[in-house]
Formats: sequence, C-alpha cells, structure tokens
Amino acid sequence: MNIPPHLAHLPPPPPEAQAISDRLTGLIAGEIAAGGGWISFSRFMELALYAPGLGYYSAGSRKLGRDGDFVTAPELSPLFSRCLARQLGELIGHGLTDILEIGAGSGALAAGLLPGLAALGCAPDNYFILEVSADLRERQQARIAKHAPQQAGKVRWLDVLPANFNGIIIGNEVLDAIPVHIVRTHDGAIEEIGITRGESGEAFARACRKADGALLAAARDLQLPDDYETEIHLAARAFVRSFARILKRGAILFIDYGFPAHEYYHPQRNRGTLMCHYRHHAHADPLCLVGLQDITTHVDFSAVAGAGAAAGLDVLGYATQAQFLINCGITDILGEVSAENVRDYAPLASQAQMLLSPAEMGELFKVIALGKGITPPLLGFRSGDKSHTL
Ligand SMILES: C[S@@+](CC[C@H](N)C(=O)[O-])C[C@H]1O[C@@H](n2cnc3c(N)ncnc32)[C@H](O)[C@@H]1O
Repeated sequence: MNIPPHLAHLPPPPPEAQAISDRLTGLIAGEIAAGGGWISFSRFMELALYAPGLGYYSAGSRKLGRDGDFVTAPELSPLFSRCLARQLGELIGHGLTDILEIGAGSGALAAGLLPGLAALGCAPDNYFILEVSADLRERQQARIAKHAPQQAGKVRWLDVLPANFNGIIIGNEVLDAIPVHIVRTHDGAIEEIGITRGESGEAFARACRKADGALLAAARDLQLPDDYETEIHLAARAFVRSFARILKRGAILFIDYGFPAHEYYHPQRNRGTLMCHYRHHAHADPLCLVGLQDITTHVDFSAVAGAGAAAGLDVLGYATQAQFLINCGITDILGEVSAENVRDYAPLASQAQMLLSPAEMGELFKVIALGKGITPPLLGFRSGDKSHTL
C-alpha cells in the first residue's frame, strides 16, 4: 500500500510511478533483510531519494517547479539568481574565477547565474556542476543550453569532487536533501530510529535500537530533554568537511531552510523537522510513497558552521535570505522595471514578496558563507549578519 488511510487526500500515483515505487520497496526490503531486519533511517532516506534509477531524485519524474512537488527560489524567480550573481560577482572580482554548484536540480540557478554574471561583466572562467542524479544532470544540460546558450560552453559536469579547488562553491537547497539520522531520548537512554519490515499491509515500520558511535556522541552533545525525537545531520557535516578539504582559497555559500542549534533543538520542537513533499502536499510520513515523494529536514546551521570551522573554514557570514537579498540589492533590481508596466512588474513584485516575506521564505531560509583566505564582510552580509547566533 502506498498511501496510508491518514493521507487518503493525496492524489494516487499513476501506474508507471507505482511500479517504480514497488521496485524500490523491494530493493529496500532486500537491504533490510541483509542487515538482519533493520537499517538506519539515514540509509532508508538515502535509498528512497537516490537509489540509481529508482530513488526520488534519480527516477526521472518531474520534481521541481509548479508541475512537480515543490518550488525552490531559483525556480520561483529570476530575482534570486540576479541577486546571487551580485554576490558571486564580488567574489569573482577577488580572483575566485571558478564556480562549483552542488545539486543543481533542474539547472534553473545556473541558467540564471551565467547570463547574470556576464551582464555584470564578471563571467566565471568555469562553471562546474556536481549532481548525484543522472536524470537531473540531463535536465540541467537541456535547460542551460536553452536559457544560457552563450555561456553553456563553460559548464562541465563532475563525477567526483576535484582534489583541489580555488573558487566559489554554491548549493541551494542541497543540505536539506542530505540523509539524516533520527534519535529519540526515552527513559534516560538515547536510541536510534531505524526502519524494519512492516506488518499488516505496511511495507515498512520504525524500530529503535541503542544509539552508538558518532551518533551517540553527537546526541549527547545536544543534551536533549527526555521523550524527545529529532534528526542529527552526520552526513551533512561530512559533506561540509569534504568541501573544506578541497578548498584551497575561496568561499562556500549554502542557502537553505533551517535554524541555529538552539532553535533547532528547542525543547518544544520535540518531534524534529522531517517533512515529505508530494504534489505540493506536505506531510510527515516518510514510509509511504517510497521514491515518489521528497523527504527533507531543516538544516542545523550551527552544525554546518561547526563542521566547517573544525575543518579549517571561517564563517564569512550568516543571514536570513531576506537580509541577504536586500544586501545584494533586490530592491534596485526590482526598480529596473517601472511599476507602471503592470504586466512585467506585478509578477516580479509578487515573487519578491515570496522571497522576502517573513511569512514565506524570507526568515526561515538562511544563507551561510564559509571560506578560506577571504576577508569579510561579503556583500550579502554587510548588514544584519547573525553569525554570532550560530
Ligand atoms: C532540493 S533539490 C535543489 C535543487 C536546486 N539546487 C534548486 O535550488 O532548485 C536537491 C538537489 O541536490 C542534489 N543532491 C543531493 N545530494 C547530493 C550530493 N551528495 N551531491 C550532489 N548533489 C546532490 C539532488 O539530486 C538535487 O539536484
């Protein structure tokens, strides 16, 4: 069964999607059997999102945009890439002439940034993309060829990270798509929540084990209250360390929704932040619609900063998305279109509202900049830098 009764309002998947989900369910069931009846939630999430040819990001259906499951900022508005281009332009001016984008989705950000940077007179020498999904890589190629044909020759797709990198690394909504571990505190013990086979028609069910190793150490550091369930981002920390290792001189910009640790692990947020997105419906059950829905969590920006600092990176800035975009001049960019030109101005103004409003993406989304050999302040953090809250 793919849609449980409590989510009966969700649209049923078409038969071909259902067939892929059934194959993925079989693959995960095989791993659970091979693992003695249990796998970590992190492994379940990794397979559900990225199993080659079957996972959510790998199986070829349309995920991003209005016809998909969710919309990201570069999909929503060209204002986002135009603002980011101003920040990248400043860094390019400091000799960081290569860009590496991680997890480029449909290619919307690259397709907006490349012409935006060229228009500012600071085109990069190279634009590399590292993308785990073969299907999305094809979509990126097509989108960039169509919307940035003059710059498309600068774009190269990487299969692995280079050994050394001087330049700018960017990732929009990538950290939230990195698999997480889930822990809970119960009767004074710290347990890890994993996945086992379900009973009575359910494919999968949750099952707890005593937490150990790095997960236990990370959970202890958080001093969680009793009867508390949350995510711990071990893989995201390793992800940040992998960029710190290769970066010789440059800056890393991650944009995503999330909080610093004191807000993330607030006593009242006692069931974590995990959410699933399916056809613009949000819910919290990752065990249904396997491979057909996005599974995501908020980002712990303190852990990102801490992993970077431990690996030799400086925090160059941390701000809300609204503050960052304002610092990058979103109002000037909007002002280039006359408000009397209602046809062009009205959609841009409503997109700006989505990007900036505290009730939409403005406050929940944050931008963090980490770097090596770069002196702050960067343009996007000139005002309202909140690095002290991390
Ligand atoms: C939520 S989408 C965001 C896409 C895009 N950046 C945007 O803002 O529209 C997450 C993207 O990260 C990619 N991704 C996830 N983990 C990755 C990894 N370890 N390395 C590279 N790409 C990854 C996914 O395949 C997908 O393209």
